[in-house]
Amino acid sequence: MATIKLFDKSFEPYLPEALILEKIKELGQLLNQDYAGKKPLFIAILNGSFMFAADLFKEVTIEAEICFIKLASYKGTKSTGHVITAIGLDTDITDRDVVILEDIIDTGKTLNEFLPQLRNQHPKSLKVAVLLHKPDATVFPVDIDYCCFSIPNKFVLGYGLDYDGFGRNIREIYQLQE
Ligand code: IMP
Ligand code: MG
Repeated sequence: MATIKLFDKSFEPYLPEALILEKIKELGQLLNQDYAGKKPLFIAILNGSFMFAADLFKEVTIEAEICFIKLASYKGTKSTGHVITAIGLDTDITDRDVVILEDIIDTGKTLNEFLPQLRNQHPKSLKVAVLLHKPDATVFPVDIDYCCFSIPNKFVLGYGLDYDGFGRNIREIYQLQE
């Protein structure tokens, strides 16, 4: 894996595809145990989580549903601090065991704003599964129930994560070179 240049920035290899998939497989097995017989509803947050959600859902072998919503707060490599709901929830979550799937928790703003809105709809349970968490960047508290990788506070790219819309199709995760 070589360095990648995108617009004005360079990114270096960080998490190889095989490691990402291994962690996702472990998470899938854990969810299969924790949610056996519960028919959970996974809610994946677009755009960033589409690849994580697809690979994780293939590891889920229990009866489960998945749906998608679109929230956004990022422009370029910085959070704008505003969370916009671009595509809303079309599924009734009342009395359901809900698992949110998110690519990354950075400031925590997105989920910190969104989770209370979901709680208002009275799910039976509400848990959060993330691929990546940047603990040093988190300012808005979010309870994370499942996390594949805890990473330093550096911008990352690939495996669904973008830099101004590009780079989502990269199979590995790259880190901004400073
Ligand atoms: P938060 O609201 O600050 O936690 O940011 C959450 C959203 O910002 C994530 O769902 C991502 O879409 C985006 N994001 C945060 N950090 C990164 C990054 O390092 N690379 C690409 N996107 C990111
Ligand atoms: Mg996202």
